[in-house]
Amino acid sequence: MQEQNFKRYLVTSALPYANGPLHIGHIAGAYLPADIYVRYLRLKKKDVVYVSGSDEHGAAITIQAKKEGVSPQEIVDKYHELNKQCFEQFGISFDIYHRTSSELHHKTSSEYFTALNDKGVFEVKESEQFYDEEAKQFLADRYITGTCPKCSNENAYGDQCENCGSTLSPTELMNPKSTLSGNEPILKKTKLWYLPLNKDEDWLKEWILEGKGQNEKWKKNVVGQCKSWLNEGLLPRAITRDLDWGVPVPVEGADGKVLYVWLDAPIGYISATKQWAIDNNKDWKPYWQDKETKLLHFIGKDNIVFHSIIFPVILKAHGDYILPTNVPANEFMNMEGDKMSTSRRWSVQLDLYLKEFPDKVDELRYVTAKNFPSTSDSEFTWKDYQEKINSELVGTLGNFVNRVLVLTNKYYDGVVPHFDPESFREDDTSIEWHENINEVVTKIANHLELYEFREALNQVMELARMGNKYLAETEPWKLVKEDEEAVKRIMNISIQLIANIAIVAEPYLPNTSKKLLSFLNLPESILDWSNAGRLDLVMTGSKVNKPTLLFAKIEDEMIEAQLAKLNAQKEKLDAQKTKFKPVKPEITFDDFQKMDIRTGIIIEAEKVPKADKLLQFKVDLGFESRTIVSGIAEHFEADNLIGQKVTVLVNLAPRKIRGVESQGMILLAENAEGDLTFVGSNDAGAGEEVN
Ligand code: MF3
Ligand code: ZN
Repeated sequence: MQEQNFKRYLVTSALPYANGPLHIGHIAGAYLPADIYVRYLRLKKKDVVYVSGSDEHGAAITIQAKKEGVSPQEIVDKYHELNKQCFEQFGISFDIYHRTSSELHHKTSSEYFTALNDKGVFEVKESEQFYDEEAKQFLADRYITGTCPKCSNENAYGDQCENCGSTLSPTELMNPKSTLSGNEPILKKTKLWYLPLNKDEDWLKEWILEGKGQNEKWKKNVVGQCKSWLNEGLLPRAITRDLDWGVPVPVEGADGKVLYVWLDAPIGYISATKQWAIDNNKDWKPYWQDKETKLLHFIGKDNIVFHSIIFPVILKAHGDYILPTNVPANEFMNMEGDKMSTSRRWSVQLDLYLKEFPDKVDELRYVTAKNFPSTSDSEFTWKDYQEKINSELVGTLGNFVNRVLVLTNKYYDGVVPHFDPESFREDDTSIEWHENINEVVTKIANHLELYEFREALNQVMELARMGNKYLAETEPWKLVKEDEEAVKRIMNISIQLIANIAIVAEPYLPNTSKKLLSFLNLPESILDWSNAGRLDLVMTGSKVNKPTLLFAKIEDEMIEAQLAKLNAQKEKLDAQKTKFKPVKPEITFDDFQKMDIRTGIIIEAEKVPKADKLLQFKVDLGFESRTIVSGIAEHFEADNLIGQKVTVLVNLAPRKIRGVESQGMILLAENAEGDLTFVGSNDAGAGEEVN
């Protein structure tokens, strides 16, 4: 067990961009695990503050604003509200859900930058960045699209290709285009502030890879990702961007520059804590600056390096701040065999789910937690959702609670029967029970302390399984005629077991926990981890209520309806995919060498008589001029093509087309819509070889 005695806890969940709704993959990565942990700490009466908020800056926001045709502020206002409400309804129990557009945040990150800048932490360098001359603006990676050098997807972004998943930098794209004007961007010099991460390699290696100075073991998936970064060697990274939406760089002459996400979003954790402290009349500083605080960052796979390497460097550079004790990141959750994505509408979108099934919050929390991508990617399927709910929540937990309450009402009119442990000295199952429950409770706590949330949940359910087994083995419905005292004991213990479940299940199933308390007429003050394991939580003589349905069975129709929606979506997505034809079979270098490709200039162009589609050209190839026929009359006017630079396969066997001998082939690119562009470079003259 790795429980240490920390004086207080500060728990963070990644600030999601306020540019769209959340899906269950986000929840599984950064929010539900944190919420479970925080609820557990609260049950243990620890001093804990749980913060998050909307990340309202960066190109992610401005691009969405452009898409929706509204201002960035309108975008963040809309999605901040939506996401905040969804979190609340889903029971994610933040102490504060703040926003980075707030004045307090701007001030906080601005001051943080200045503190580091005054210490000389940053390096200022000029570098060439893509610039849109028409929009008069430097282009964030996401504002540049082009052809992916790896898979030829024409719509790859400057930072990533969504078709093949490669990470890219804008200059790697072929035919880069600005999404603002559609023009090819130029490279232009600009001043950037860099964080020289390379200087921090040594201590980071000792800290992360050797665990030096750490209180806790970090998860394998986290250390693994850091290791590959550290082994490749860290480079100075720019922490400013040329963009008009964000926290301005607080330096003279830095107009039009804002802080990059690294010095913005995670500082949001700090400003959120400050706002919480103001609202609650507390001091924020110890939570960030006292060594007896345990700082934990819950995040998804895509933010591991950010929180394990970059943010710690930023915290350390300041000097006053503590480093995270742990970064218990999860991997990704996929869905029905594909990556989750809001834009591709392939997810369980939280706002839609909550609207459709407002009373199935704990059900989704349960299935998500059972499938946490704790060590590797996991998968959500609707079939599995149905199975887990029906067999475990309905079949095991709901069934146990229901039987106990029904029998108690039947035999004792709902009054908890007296049971005197003293009178059962000889054959006392209660002693055994006491031990068994405590053993399970300890296991749950141990797993939670190690962020092993799936394992802890299995033990929570173990209590319900034990209860069912107890009833099945003792058969109180038979015993009731023979041994009244034994039945009283069985029922009493079973009722105590339900109270215990209400406590230990609370982090996972907060609504269910409340329902159980109301069944048993127990106050919420019972919810205290130190009560877990006790067999005297429900007093003899008190009354329990008649049960109402704890969980409803998930019918096939619901699952079928969800799958039908997804199938319709799949068809749409597949149609989009065929945009990219499969790559042809591999050829050798020698095969390639056989082709003689040269540049040329069209010097004559005319229509081929009686052929709608054909144009006939004379192309100057430097060494000679050739006649070439091409089926592009529907795309171009002959007259417009005089002087057009082209690329030609010159050793293609001549062919007669409509009576004209064509002596080569002009190369053209065709996009999904069937538009054609000439392949070639503006700089090449006629007769240059292509190889
Ligand atoms: N909003 C960013 C993202 O979703 C950053 C989140 S992590 C934080 O990737 F530290 F910045 F909050
Ligand atoms: Zn690609």
